[in-house]
Amino acid sequence: MIRINPKQAAGEAAARLAKDNMVVGLGTGSTTAYAIKALGKRVTDGLKIQGVPTSYQAAFLAAENGIPLTTLDEHPVLDLDIDGADQIANYIVIKGGGAAHTLEKIVAQSTKRFIVVVDESKCTDVLSCPVPLEVLPPARKLVMRQIVELGGKIELRMGINKDGPVISDNGNFIMDADFGKIGDPVYLDEKLSKCTGIVEHGIFTEVDAVIIGKKDGSIEILEH
Ligand code: A5P
Repeated sequence: MIRINPKQAAGEAAARLAKDNMVVGLGTGSTTAYAIKALGKRVTDGLKIQGVPTSYQAAFLAAENGIPLTTLDEHPVLDLDIDGADQIANYIVIKGGGAAHTLEKIVAQSTKRFIVVVDESKCTDVLSCPVPLEVLPPARKLVMRQIVELGGKIELRMGINKDGPVISDNGNFIMDADFGKIGDPVYLDEKLSKCTGIVEHGIFTEVDAVIIGKKDGSIEILEH
């Protein structure tokens, strides 16, 4: 029996939503990678779309899979955006586990329809994973103080197979702010948006639909 993994089930289901002439946001991460590969197969079969990548990872993968790329300058309003998440509760997600959340949020806020693709392990009742922050390097200490004032614990994300900190695609630091259980993510979104030196944080409050991949390979689609 061929088993399909939950991320693949969700990503491939999202790819089926693309239609001819759409401009599609291409998210970052392992779940969206399945969507990008599936979109590439559909392009090979004749689907006419253009993609707006949210990272180098997405851009390289899209190019390898034959998806024509465009930019937000050319297409400021997208038809569809497909992206993953680190955790989701009540249609609010935390993103940025791959340090791409700034461009991911710009693309998500530029689309008519933002579709989040996750496996069921990402679904929870209350958000609690650390919130990724993209931080301008000179603001590192200031941001640390602001997060502590908001009741969080903060760490500079360090590289793996790279000495020193993770540097985002935009040349900034990534810091992870742990607030424990986040009772009011909309309030925290507003507070973090006001912190000086944070380019963008990983709480996304505007999700139109969620595609959840299950362990048995089935999917569930939740419309907001
Ligand atoms: C990239 O920075 C992230 O926002 C990813 O979209 C998120 O971490 C989900 O990644 P996976 O699909 O690999 O779990």
